[in-house]
Amino acid sequence: MSLSSRETIQVFPNPSALTRAAALDFITLAKAAITDHGAFNVALAGGSTPKRLYTLLADEAGGDLAAPWDKIQLFFGDERHVGPDDNDSNYRMANETLISRLHHKLPAENVHRIHAEDLDAGKAAADYEAELRSYFTAHQCLLDDFPRFDLILLGMGPDGHTASLFPGTTALFENKRWVVSNWVEKFKTHRITFTYPVLNAAAKVILFVAGRDKAEMVHEVLVTHKDSPLYPVQFVKPVDGEKVWMLDSDASGNLNASA
Ligand code: 6PG
Repeated sequence: MSLSSRETIQVFPNPSALTRAAALDFITLAKAAITDHGAFNVALAGGSTPKRLYTLLADEAGGDLAAPWDKIQLFFGDERHVGPDDNDSNYRMANETLISRLHHKLPAENVHRIHAEDLDAGKAAADYEAELRSYFTAHQCLLDDFPRFDLILLGMGPDGHTASLFPGTTALFENKRWVVSNWVEKFKTHRITFTYPVLNAAAKVILFVAGRDKAEMVHEVLVTHKDSPLYPVQFVKPVDGEKVWMLDSDASGNLNASA
């Protein structure tokens, strides 16, 4: 079986065009996955950039972006070490913008939340890994003993981190566990995060990046260090899948300058 890893860059004129393109891709992938194996297994990104995407998916769930949500399984690529009602919670953000607004379209059991309220972040990570192992083994969606997500949505920080894989942290070196607790010194806190083997087993990874504050790192990653990976986001390399950068013109602004 030949494996193929592809990386492409898509640039959109503004955040609205970027968001609509990503939403249409999400729905297209969902329908294809459901046709192929009866479910769409997707991991959501945290942070603030995806809010607009999740909001649009909910706004148009009954119209142009209708999807068989009863066959969509929502997971989370990372979580802050806080409870689900905390302002910093990635679950809270996704719940407010998407999950709670889908009403009865999305069964509660389709939402796989990281229980980051557990004071023991290591246990929260282990429990989430156990839930992933149970689901992906039962549904036989594995690639080289890792869960094969149909899509993993990711953001990127100005420091080149993705999920909660931050520069200089121990999780960058984890190659067996699916989910780990990761101490992030700069925030003086633990995060719970997918590891690279999970990210790289996905059929598709979308780096959904917008805003001028990301332009410098986008240039670092896609131009300056293109052939000499330095930043965590550069080690996201699907073994047999697609890595797509979906950028708005602000985030890609420095790319033009270097052309
Ligand atoms: C998180 C995310 C993180 C995020 C980037 C970009 O938990 O914060 O998983 O990787 O995607 O930090 O965040 P913004 O979208 O807020 O710029």
